[in-house]
Amino acid sequence: MDQDLLKITEEKKKISDNVNILEIGPGNNPSLSINFLETHKCTYHTVDFTGLNSLNKYHQHFISDFLLTELKRSYDIIIDRCAWHEQDLFTRHKYVKKIYCLLKKDGCFIGEHAIYHKSIKFEEDYLLFDEDKKVLYQQKNGIIETVKYIPETQQIESDLKLNKFEILKFICDPTKKIICNRSIPTPRQGDPDHLYFLTQKS
Ligand SMILES: C[S@@+](CC[C@H](N)C(=O)[O-])C[C@H]1O[C@@H](n2cnc3c(N)ncnc32)[C@H](O)[C@@H]1O
Repeated sequence: MDQDLLKITEEKKKISDNVNILEIGPGNNPSLSINFLETHKCTYHTVDFTGLNSLNKYHQHFISDFLLTELKRSYDIIIDRCAWHEQDLFTRHKYVKKIYCLLKKDGCFIGEHAIYHKSIKFEEDYLLFDEDKKVLYQQKNGIIETVKYIPETQQIESDLKLNKFEILKFICDPTKKIICNRSIPTPRQGDPDHLYFLTQKS
């Protein structure tokens, strides 16, 4: 995603020295590569960094829940690839509000989110999708837990607007899929669609 991220953010904001970037929930697949961090002297913070320790020397990270982490800086760019949709229905709003508060004026919030469509289908018997609530549940060792919120695009649009974000890009490409909670990495027609958005705090 480096190239896309660069292209898109450069339209609005030059990624130059002294830019503060926060990535929430990179897992073992961070958006910014070593190559990027070597060529851009940004401050890169991550929350819940579980993989790729090779990035350690370039940035600071906090292994904790974003909602429970007290971050003392403000950021020019916040990246959230598929972590926001893992929040439950009660904490979703708190989460996006916190992103807004942590951004500097004119700062960008760049995200990706799973999106509902009419032929959504999960074939695994440990997954259950509640069409009314748009919530995906998973059953593991007899315990049922919420794993994803998969709303229609309009819901994300209204969540962002409600939190006073200006939407600059909002791209739902139905040929791109998000694979949820299964190990086989081949996308299926029934998987949720993919949404990419670029927003700004004005
Ligand atoms: C579906 S994975 C996406 C990983 C990576 N961003 C990517 O694009 O491949 C979601 C990640 O978000 C993290 N996450 C979910 N909720 C979080 C929270 N409240 N605070 C920090 N990280 C969170 C999870 O631990 C996981 O690493």
